[in-house]
Amino acid sequence: MPILKPPPKLILPAFEPDPGLEYLESQRSWEHRKSEEERKVAAFYRKQQTDGALERSKKYSLAEKVILKPSWDLLSKSLGQVLASRKTTSSKALRPLNFAELSTFLMASSGLQRSLPGADPSREWQRTVPSAGGLYGAEVYFFCLNVDGLREGLYHFQPEEGVLERLPWKIQDDDRDLVFSSANAREAQKTASGLIMITGVFQRHRRKYGHRYLRFCMLEVGCLCQNMDLAANAMGAGLWHQGAIDEGRSRRLLHVDGQQESVLHSALLLGAG
Ligand SMILES: Cc1cc2nc3c(=O)[nH]c(=O)nc-3n(C[C@H](O)[C@H](O)[C@H](O)COP(=O)(O)O)c2cc1C
Repeated sequence: MPILKPPPKLILPAFEPDPGLEYLESQRSWEHRKSEEERKVAAFYRKQQTDGALERSKKYSLAEKVILKPSWDLLSKSLGQVLASRKTTSSKALRPLNFAELSTFLMASSGLQRSLPGADPSREWQRTVPSAGGLYGAEVYFFCLNVDGLREGLYHFQPEEGVLERLPWKIQDDDRDLVFSSANAREAQKTASGLIMITGVFQRHRRKYGHRYLRFCMLEVGCLCQNMDLAANAMGAGLWHQGAIDEGRSRRLLHVDGQQESVLHSALLLGAG
């Protein structure tokens, strides 16, 4: 039997102050739910929900709608095959995605399950992604750069009707270019099909989970990213997560305030091979 030595102790310099640790400490248990202040906040959000002000998906009712047309046979690989071969693709030598591929990618990643073949009919409003309390705190936006069959522009994915809503405001050239702030992203956007931006709408989780809202919202976005990663890999499309996208600028692009709703992650959707 080989004798295993304990690993050497690694002493890391601490961040002072450490906002991450402060955050975790502030919501490490359900104790906060007992405080008067949190009870008031939760009651406020519950009332908003009863009044219909809190929905499970944003709807831009005046936006032009583009009905998604998935082609489910693009997802014929087994989960085992996809897991064995999944990877991050950053290749520029890929053809742009077409509309059926984009539709399949979005609906498979976070659409209603009932849109998929073989879905359980009792799961009328559930999605392909898990969500704390089924409150669906994440929203998906797509900045279309080059998709065969879809006009360039900014869209919101609305899962309940299975549509893309074209956001009606004008995109300033500055905002467009500055979102792609890292050298990698600047280079990749010349050939990418588009940029996925995922936001959190915090009040959906706050009303139920109090101070834990951010933890649950982030986890939900993580689940969503994993679905996207697997769906893209299953279809042979390239997905390149981008921690380096400028979030201040993507907020401006999406007209979200960073408090009620904030951008939590972005990924470049490249082409297919
Ligand atoms: C949250 C997150 C952020 C990432 N940000 C970047 C990034 O900014 N630039 C980049 O080149 N890769 C980025 N990646 C991709 C990782 O570098 C990649 O997943 C990792 O090297 C493992 O490789 P694989 O995905 O091919 O298995 C990111 C991945 C995740 C999950």
